[in-house]
Amino acid sequence: MRSRYMMTILAALLAGGMAWSLAWSQTTGVRKRRPKPNEYGTEIIDNASVANGMAPVAFPHWVHRARYTCRLCHVDIGFAMTAGETGITEEDNRHGMYCGTCHNGKIAFRWEEGSKGAVKKSCQRCHSVGLHVKMQNDFYAFRAKMPRQRFGNGIDWLKAEEEGLIKLTDTLPGVSFQRPKLQSPSDEELVAREINMPKIIFSHKKHAVEAGCELCHPQIFPIKKGAVSYSMQDIFDGKYCGACHGKVSFPNADCQRCHTEPVF
Ligand code: HEC
Ligand code: HEC
Ligand code: HEC
Ligand code: HEC
Ligand code: HEC
Ligand code: HEC
Repeated sequence: MRSRYMMTILAALLAGGMAWSLAWSQTTGVRKRRPKPNEYGTEIIDNASVANGMAPVAFPHWVHRARYTCRLCHVDIGFAMTAGETGITEEDNRHGMYCGTCHNGKIAFRWEEGSKGAVKKSCQRCHSVGLHVKMQNDFYAFRAKMPRQRFGNGIDWLKAEEEGLIKLTDTLPGVSFQRPKLQSPSDEELVAREINMPKIIFSHKKHAVEAGCELCHPQIFPIKKGAVSYSMQDIFDGKYCGACHGKVSFPNADCQRCHTEPVF
């Protein structure tokens, strides 16, 4: 009896430790393999798949951000900004929620009914982790047409949007409610608390294209300049700017893409 109690505590500690090490995985004391450009921003979702005999789901951000704004999915459709956190189920999807908002056979492919082979193939386009599935959207063919950047997907997503190479949908009927757009405040100058570190110019206008206002305010940032103070380590740990940068938007290793303005 007592040993089972101890095992439960041990299991809880282990699980806690694992979550901890994941959250802090930015600094490990060891240089890890960098994700490949085609893998960057791919979310592995497995709350219940493996337990129910399916491979975990791989959700590729690149395929989707080439078509939709972050805001549409993370505000209107309601996906969490942490992998696994939404708690999507197959039933939700089939009732037109979450993935099923689009994967309904009209906007994008859906689960098939019919011959066993066709069914399995359709499931495996989402439940693909660890399987050799040939995806229809080819990353390298897509990237070849896009302006390049150093890190992450190796694509300059902002430039691609500005040049009209990708056209982003920001609302979907039945999911989004049309409202007048709010005016973006002017660019913020964020001064790094470290002499010699170049200042950061934060462009509200550029961010609002992808994130609207409500993806950042009030959960990630308060609406008052200087109301919170955060450090570079907070960003590396996935907070503030790090809620997106380092996960889906360009990685934090690209120091000079944020620290742009000389300080003298
Ligand atoms: C087609 C919908 C869709 C679009 C567009 C989209 N996302 Fe996501 N995003 C998701 C889903 C689904 C997840 C995983 C949620 C889950 O597992 O519960 C996710 C997860 C995330 C996470 C968590 C990653 C992690 O490591 O925990 C971040 C950060 C994120 N998205 C940022 C963005 C940003 C920034 C954009 C725009 C450039 C964007 N997303 C566009 C659907 C989308
Ligand atoms: C458009 C993407 C997509 C397709 C296609 C798809 N699924 Fe899923 N499915 C998901 C996501 C996302 C989850 C949630 C994953 C998790 O947390 O484990 C899920 C979860 C599941 C689960 C876990 C238990 C549950 O009820 O949520 C099962 C079982 C499942 N799917 C079976 C299937 C089968 C069988 C097919 C093909 C007929 C299929 N799925 C096709 C996205 C998809
Ligand atoms: C806002 C609409 C939208 C949502 C929400 C969405 N998708 Fe997609 N997805 C698309 C479109 C459009 C495509 C590209 C067209 C196609 O392949 O049918 C696509 C393509 C994909 C592909 C690439 C398949 C291939 O063969 O290249 C995968 C995998 C995928 N989606 C998984 C998911 C999963 C899993 C979810 C939910 C966690 C999800 N999508 C949510 C619209 C969406
Ligand atoms: C990518 C995240 C992000 C998005 C999207 C965003 N903001 Fe902000 N906002 C910030 C940051 C960062 C600050 C500065 C906070 C600080 O200095 O601590 C800020 C500050 C503000 C302030 C205070 C300015 C001041 O000088 O006191 C207002 C007002 C504001 N935002 C409105 C908006 C509106 C309206 C939108 C949509 C059009 C928007 N924001 C979209 C991140 C964002
Ligand atoms: C996504 C944008 C972004 C990237 C990428 C980035 N920084 Fe920062 N950095 C910031 C912001 C924002 C602050 C905080 C400004 C403030 O104090 O309000 C900051 C602060 C700092 C500070 C000040 C001291 C501290 O601990 O806060 C240092 C030093 C720093 N960054 C170094 C770096 C280095 C080195 C890199 C590359 C490895 C880097 N930064 C990449 C946005 C960024
Ligand atoms: C809600 C998600 C989100 C948050 C939070 C966020 N960003 Fe971004 N940021 C993006 C996206 C999306 C892009 C487009 C490029 C990309 O995804 O690689 C971008 C692009 C940028 C760029 C490139 C601008 C250019 O002209 O090339 C800079 C600089 C930047 N962000 C700085 C910041 C700083 C500093 C913060 C924190 C104060 C921050 N971002 C917070 C999503 C975010």
